[in-house]
Amino acid sequence: KQTGYTALDQGFVNTASTRSAITYIDGDRGILRYRGYAIEDVAANSTYLEVAWLLIYGEIPSASQLEEFDEKIRRHTLLHEDLRRFFDALPHSAHPMSVLSSAVSALSTYYEDSHDVRDPEHVELSTIRLLAKLPVIAAYAHKKSLGQALLYPDNSLSFVDNFLKLNFGNMAEDYEVNPVLSKALDRLLILHEDHEQNASTSTVRLVGSTEANIFASISAGINALYGPLHGGANEAVLKMLGEIQQSGEGVQKFVERVKRKEEGVRLMGFGHRVYKSFDPRARLVKESADEVLADLGVSDPLLDIARELEEVALADDYFISRKLYPNVDFYTGVIYKAMGFPPRMFTVLFAIGRLPGWIANWREMNEDPNTKIGRPQQLYTGPETRAWPQR
Ligand code: CMC
Repeated sequence: KQTGYTALDQGFVNTASTRSAITYIDGDRGILRYRGYAIEDVAANSTYLEVAWLLIYGEIPSASQLEEFDEKIRRHTLLHEDLRRFFDALPHSAHPMSVLSSAVSALSTYYEDSHDVRDPEHVELSTIRLLAKLPVIAAYAHKKSLGQALLYPDNSLSFVDNFLKLNFGNMAEDYEVNPVLSKALDRLLILHEDHEQNASTSTVRLVGSTEANIFASISAGINALYGPLHGGANEAVLKMLGEIQQSGEGVQKFVERVKRKEEGVRLMGFGHRVYKSFDPRARLVKESADEVLADLGVSDPLLDIARELEEVALADDYFISRKLYPNVDFYTGVIYKAMGFPPRMFTVLFAIGRLPGWIANWREMNEDPNTKIGRPQQLYTGPETRAWPQR
């Protein structure tokens, strides 16, 4: 039955699904702000956990608030031993994003208190558990894909250093965190922390609007992020750059194929629903790329291909007229690769980055007395009533 007020907005191009006080984007001017602070200032002056606090609680934390937050998160990094064994049940070939979403979903089974979504104490505890355990789960997904032993977290280390050690350390020798790598990863995570009502955050809100617990909601968000049009683009960009390199066809020819709209050929890491002048995160990532590769002593021909692609595309009328610019995913893969992560981990890194934004949005939705279950309308295009044939 049509209700009379249904307007079709496929892909939510014109419709706001919520009010929110967390993140502001002006896509025409390339502006992104977390709780009013420009992303450029945030990235230059903070850490992942400080920004997580800002997004979730609305203000920059005091030194003691941040210390307490950090301390609590360190205390919750361990996974239940049974959950560590959960990784044994999955194939080595599993994509780490599938492992990540499955393990986050499984967290609900260990923390029954998370179903109590109206109890602020439980919501707070679930928040800390997610922030503490997601990086550990992510590192285990990585280790699993390598067939290596899962390490225990080292809680004497900072959030990012602990994560690096879990990924790149091993049982046999000491692992020394490279501070350049640590700083660079922290900065990249900050740039991903929130981006208002993107597909994964909207998914988290939609699932959360049914009063499902935060682990279930965020597991759904991780699955939404997986797709190559969203977070999966960072892995797809590296694949594209590798294919251009291996085929030897050259950047110009590849761009011609994109413009001819050959089946399945898109310039990955380009274009954005909201940004129509530039993506401010992409600018900051590009700055980092040179710096990080030089600091790590890595030179990668894929970075040259990426630069050439950007140059060619930005001078081409096809991309100019459609307002297509590099997005955050265009250069991140090259940096993650230089850090030693395999391409299949790139979107997992995006998920760790985005976690505070998902939590902040879930909590904002949960606390808003005006929240209603998300239930879009449709315009029915099927047949009118038909009589069931007499046989
Ligand atoms: N390469 C070639 N053409 C493109 C691209 C691209 N990357 N993006 C959009 N277009 C064209 C599209 O074919 C269409 O052309 P026409 O008007 O001739 O039909 C026009 O530009 C408008 O595109 P659209 O698909 O209607 O735009 P959208 O807002 O629905 O999609 C997007 C946005 C991000 C899904 C899309 O730009 C895309 O597929 N980009 C590549 C994937 C990617 O990099 N995703 C990461 C997004 S940023 C980080 C994140 O959200 O996770």
